[in-house]
Amino acid sequence: MQPLAIAAWVAGAAALVAVNFAAATMGVERPWLAALDLVLDLAVLGAGLAYVLRHGLRVEARTARMQAVLDKSQAQLAAIVESAMDAIITVDREQRIVLFNRAAQEMFGCPRADAIGARLDRFIPARFRDAHRTHVERFGQTGETRRRMGADMVLWALRADGTEFPIEASISQVGAPDERLLTVILRDITLRKQAEDALKGQQAELRELSARMLEAREDEKTLIARELHDELGQLLTALKMDLAWLRERIPDGEVAERAGQMGGALDRTVTSVRRIAADLRPLMLDDLGLADAVSWLVEDFAQRSGVACKLERPPEGALDGVERSVATAVYRALQESLTNIARHAAAKHAWIHLAVEDGAVALEVEDDGRGISPEVPANPRSLGLKGMRERMSYLGGTVEVARAPRGGTRVHVRAPLRPTPARVEP
Ligand SMILES: Nc1ncnc2c1ncn2[C@@H]1O[C@H](COP(=O)(O)OP(=O)(O)OP(=O)(O)O)[C@@H](O)[C@H]1O
Ligand SMILES: [Mg+2]
Repeated sequence: MQPLAIAAWVAGAAALVAVNFAAATMGVERPWLAALDLVLDLAVLGAGLAYVLRHGLRVEARTARMQAVLDKSQAQLAAIVESAMDAIITVDREQRIVLFNRAAQEMFGCPRADAIGARLDRFIPARFRDAHRTHVERFGQTGETRRRMGADMVLWALRADGTEFPIEASISQVGAPDERLLTVILRDITLRKQAEDALKGQQAELRELSARMLEAREDEKTLIARELHDELGQLLTALKMDLAWLRERIPDGEVAERAGQMGGALDRTVTSVRRIAADLRPLMLDDLGLADAVSWLVEDFAQRSGVACKLERPPEGALDGVERSVATAVYRALQESLTNIARHAAAKHAWIHLAVEDGAVALEVEDDGRGISPEVPANPRSLGLKGMRERMSYLGGTVEVARAPRGGTRVHVRAPLRPTPARVEP
């Protein structure tokens, strides 16, 4: 208020008090003074009443305007909730439903009138009710305002007709503890889950198929290796013996020299056949077992590549009973790791450690070469490590490839002695 107006108010009030005082003391002798006082008092009263009335009307108009704005925003909120694609359900402290939007009605096949006032439990399969109620109560006690429900598992909901369907849901809360409202927003993920399940099924089938193909290839290689070793090997031995018989009977000269050359060629052929057969599949893997086959492979690699190898083997008999598919997979992993050392590492030394730990075969192959670089993007045509991983994961094993502490590369392979029953026997 302006100082001038305040001064006028104070002056007016003082004048009124003065007139009232004068009328009270001298009103009997001077009736005009009493009449003037009455008129003034009535005027002040009238002005006061008019002011209060005007102010009251203004407040009422403002309240009405605010109510209209509130009604409008509530209507907008209700329209948003109603038109949402996701089901929105709000429950009170007792988990009784107070809001059930149109999407919820469609999703649960339940009219709003039936849902309002019912417990949220009604839409949850019986076996999950207790756990769900506890979760919701616990959430109500936390200070959190929102949370995704069932982050690492599929949640199930129950339609009015008793059928179950998978959902994705989030929960949020507003209000003071004693009048807290919890809102659950949920989405039917039946189609997504079907697609995911189908994809998982296809992946499992593909893994199965690739494992079977690997096994079939392995069987074929074994067969060819056996044929080469047994059939061709015996024929060549017979030829060598016949040639030796002939050479004993041929007098020295040009023919004997040729026969000698033939003998040399035959020896080289025998070595080649053995080599080819062994590369296809070391028959000793089947005949002598994994540990001996590993020893042979490491020795052969050291000789051929010039890389100094040190092998640590498990105690005698530790690998007895290892399944054929596991032995093959570990052997092939070693073969691939050694080939990689020869092709990529430029190493001088290699350390191979074969052991049995906690019911699993553990193979570690380390080199002191240039080391594998994780920055280099994987060449899509490189299949060695991928194949190793594929084989191992099918058997329930693992493959880790990392830089070795002393430089170079370390490949660590683990496979259970007896793989999980999910896999198919070769
Ligand atoms: N011991 C190692 N030292 C250094 N680099 C390695 C070693 N082993 C693998 N690598 C790197 O990892 C890559 C992938 O190896 P992987 O065995 O999968 O494929 P590849 O040997 O290139 O081809 P493939 O095995 O299919 O014939 C190699 O190209 C190489 O760059
Ligand atoms: Mg390779």
